[in-house]
Amino acid sequence: MSTDLRIGILGLGTRTATLAPYLHRPGAGSVVVAGTDVRPDAFARAREVFGDGIALASDHRELLGLGLDAVLVLTPDHLHRTMTTDFLEAGVAVYLDKPMATTIEDCDAILASARETGTKLYVGHNMRHMPVVLRMRELIQDGAIGDVKAIWCRHFVSHGGDYYFKNWCSDRRNTTGLLLQKGVHDIDVIHWLAGATTRRVTGMGGLTLYGDVDSRADNSERVRTDWFSYDNWPPLAIRDLSPVVDVEDLSMLTMRLDNGVYATYEQCHYTPDYWRNYTVIGTEGRLENFGDENGVVRLWNRRRDYEERGDREVGFGGEGAHGGADASIIPEFLSFVRDDGPISTTPVEARDAVAAGVCGTWSVRADGAPQDVPPVAADLAAYFAGNQLPAGGGAP
Ligand SMILES: NC(=O)c1ccc[n+]([C@@H]2O[C@H](COP(=O)([O-])OP(=O)(O)OC[C@H]3O[C@@H](n4cnc5c(N)ncnc54)[C@H](O)[C@@H]3O)[C@@H](O)[C@H]2O)c1
Repeated sequence: MSTDLRIGILGLGTRTATLAPYLHRPGAGSVVVAGTDVRPDAFARAREVFGDGIALASDHRELLGLGLDAVLVLTPDHLHRTMTTDFLEAGVAVYLDKPMATTIEDCDAILASARETGTKLYVGHNMRHMPVVLRMRELIQDGAIGDVKAIWCRHFVSHGGDYYFKNWCSDRRNTTGLLLQKGVHDIDVIHWLAGATTRRVTGMGGLTLYGDVDSRADNSERVRTDWFSYDNWPPLAIRDLSPVVDVEDLSMLTMRLDNGVYATYEQCHYTPDYWRNYTVIGTEGRLENFGDENGVVRLWNRRRDYEERGDREVGFGGEGAHGGADASIIPEFLSFVRDDGPISTTPVEARDAVAAGVCGTWSVRADGAPQDVPPVAADLAAYFAGNQLPAGGGAP
């Protein structure tokens, strides 16, 4: 019988509630034994989920000496760098949720710390586990559309007001901007589907709606599930936005990748419906998804006029949060910690998605001025290409 990995969680908010069932499995591989947060009711909620025995602290450094096997960093984005490097330096493996950090400099500092300490670093890009993304990637890899030339992603964020404009996300000091905070998921998927990384971006966008809402409140002692409601509609009727709202609610990014693929990403935080729509165009066809947690991917690969259903349809779906992605990503992380198991997103790929999001945000704020996206240092790229194992060792 194997011993449970001893897990700590930094930030006992919404993301913790979603991941808890996959993490806290006493006797079945992992057990959450410690947590940290600064909200008054966070500890009571944590005890309900993880039991009265959980060690709780308001300063993450109090968890450093507890002999943990791993921590999950699930705090607001601007805290990711310090919390992650503190645990890497203590030799504790880290699951760091996306975005890796809010600046390129912070990402590179985290990468350098992981390499210098040799401690395992895993970045939680759960969209690489979503069935919709997996089906599209399989079709591309099977040659269903020939060579990929263009990827366009439209992101309809109906929950935007509730999720991103009433909490820490609306303040650019905490996120840089939502093109990064939210869009980093899709930038990473675009990179994965294209097999390449963004090297040049232009962006446009602005704060086009929520800036007109006067109702403000300090919601820092609550999390977004406390106020979320489908009845909060239309967007201009929303109440209790954060005191600081200085991020864009509408943004459009154009990307050129290092293999010549062109991509776009559009994000709007006040649509009625909430989903992502990708189309991938290749030399011999086109893919498009309808639905993103459960739905179909359609393939057009014959010349024709308008045909709604395409030439082939592939269904997808899964149980649980993010179309089953969260139930899949946590076992992958635990296997990485325990057995050097392979991981689906390298930390360098996570860094490259942040870099494109940061440069895209700069472009938006410079009225569309193009930005070159700096590559990661070659020595860091080489280290992380080896699954963070000493040269010649273990899993690929
Ligand atoms: N991969 C995904 O699908 C996904 C989904 C949601 C959130 N996330 C990421 O997870 C992270 C957390 O997001 P969330 O939605 O849970 O936010 P949240 O606001 O619901 O929770 C964050 C928690 O961190 C706590 N916190 C703040 N400062 C702290 C500190 N100094 N020490 C300890 N705790 C502190 C807050 O009190 C709160 O409980 C973010 O980085 C976000 O991008 C990822």
